This record gives sequence, C-alpha cells and structure tokens, in this order.
Amino acid sequence: MRVLEPDNRQGTARINGPLQLQQVRDGLATRRLGTNLHYFAEIDSTNAYARRLAEQGAGEGAVIIAEAQTRGRGRLGRSWVSPPFVNLYFSVILRPRLPPVHAPQLTLMAAVALADTIASFIGTPPAIKWPNDILVGGKKLAGVLTESSCDAERIEFVILGIGVNLNYPVALMPEVIRERATSIVTLTKNNISREAFVRRLIQDLDRCYGELEEVGFDSLALRWEAFFGLRGKGVRVEMTDHIMIGTAKGIDRDGALIVEDDRGERQRIVAGDVFPLED
Ligand code: BTN
Repeated sequence: MRVLEPDNRQGTARINGPLQLQQVRDGLATRRLGTNLHYFAEIDSTNAYARRLAEQGAGEGAVIIAEAQTRGRGRLGRSWVSPPFVNLYFSVILRPRLPPVHAPQLTLMAAVALADTIASFIGTPPAIKWPNDILVGGKKLAGVLTESSCDAERIEFVILGIGVNLNYPVALMPEVIRERATSIVTLTKNNISREAFVRRLIQDLDRCYGELEEVGFDSLALRWEAFFGLRGKGVRVEMTDHIMIGTAKGIDRDGALIVEDDRGERQRIVAGDVFPLED
C-alpha cells in the first residue's frame, strides 16, 4: 500500500493522484454509455451537473465524474460524504424508451450492475439493501441516487448517480458515517485502480441497461433478488410516517418491494428503509 499523506483541511487522505481519464477510455468496450466523459476536480454534485446537461439536451450515455463534491446528495435528502481523490462520484444520463411506471427498474438495474462490478473487485458478492444500497458485512460501501424527468407518457431522461467508497479507509471517515460505512481498501487491504473500477462499472451498466431495454426486467429482477438475500425473511420497514414489520416477498415488475404484513396482506413499498428483523 502507498503511504498516506493526511490532508488536514479535508480530514481525509491523498492516496491517489487525479483519475487518468485516458486509462478509463483505453479498452472501454460499450455500445452506449461512456462515449462522452466529463471530468471535474471539484463540483457541487455530479447528479446536479448531469441534470443541467440533460436539460440542455445532452445525449444518452454522457458520464460525469468528479474527484470531490461540495454538495454530494444521498437518498431521502441526505448528504453524501465526498472527499477528494479516494472514491468514485459518478453520474450517467439515460434516455430510456420505457414507460414512466417502469422508471424504478433503472435503479434496480443499476444496483445489479454495481454489485457485479464490486464483486469483481472484492471477490465476493455484496448484498443489496432495498432499493439500492450496496452493503458488505452489513456496512455501506456504495449507493445509487436516481433522479428522473418524466411526463405522463414518457421518460425524458434519468440520471443515475453512483457513489462508491474505494481507497478511503474507514479510519479516516467522519464519525457520522464511520460506524456504518466501509470501503474497498478497508475490506481488501489494498488500494485499487480507480480507472479500472470506473471502466468496469461503465461496462457493467452498459450491459445491464442493454438487457433491460432489449430483453426486459425479469432476469435482472432475479439477479437483484439473489443479491438482496432477504426474500422470505422477516423485515422492518421504516417509512416517513410509520414502521411496518413483515416478511419480504421480493420485488414486483415496477421495482416496488413486496412485504407481507402480520395479517397476511401483501403491501407494496415504494419508499423507505428496510432492515432485517434481527438488526
Ligand atoms: C444513497 O443515499 O445511498 C445514494 C448516494 C448517491 C451518491 C452519489 S455520488 C455521485 C452522485 N452525485 C450525487 O450528488 N449523489 C450521487
């Protein structure tokens, strides 16, 4: 491992130089995603920038990567800790030919692609926590934030935003996330090539997105459920206004989580946090 040089301003460490974009491009074999790469040393949020680009008409497949985010966004209005040079902050613009009701399938597709990429770097499959957290050993390694613009008939664009903790040791994370987060370097004891990771991620997303459009959601849903691992198990679902206890039954065609409640009724969950009961 390379020597860490603590950067006191950021409370983090510079263990990598800037991402080498040409190394990402070299050997990138994709049909649609990553043909156009936008790179920033620092940005407010790659998702916010991607939305601005999409509103100006940017085409499908444009990828935005930043070394650091000053206003990284997480799900449910949370923020995403985004120190420089150690992680991946990534957004891609999609213009899917799917009805708006199927938009959540894109988040689940992205979670499957991301889980495939991560598995290839840590040598073991991670778990997906519905709808889109990637966990290893119960700790969060990565997350997906999907933002879309739709009218009644069609999806105008979808921004898939992905944040992954790569070469960011847990010991250097702020206290607010240290207990519940992990990173690839913490799991494997090795810094990885961020260029290799982002190239592989773009390829896995391109493959899974092509599959969703051409073949449909069914086989992706099965793979998502294999990573989910809670089918048939007791879960606690925390929603904005109440908590529900039940048994996870899987996901439906629109990406909602199906949970059977204690009266045996099947409920569709479209937003919330899901935990195994023994948590
Ligand atoms: C989550 O809450 O789990 C989702 C986190 C998503 C973070 C990524 S980092 C790149 C992109 N830009 C953002 O502002 N957020 C997403």
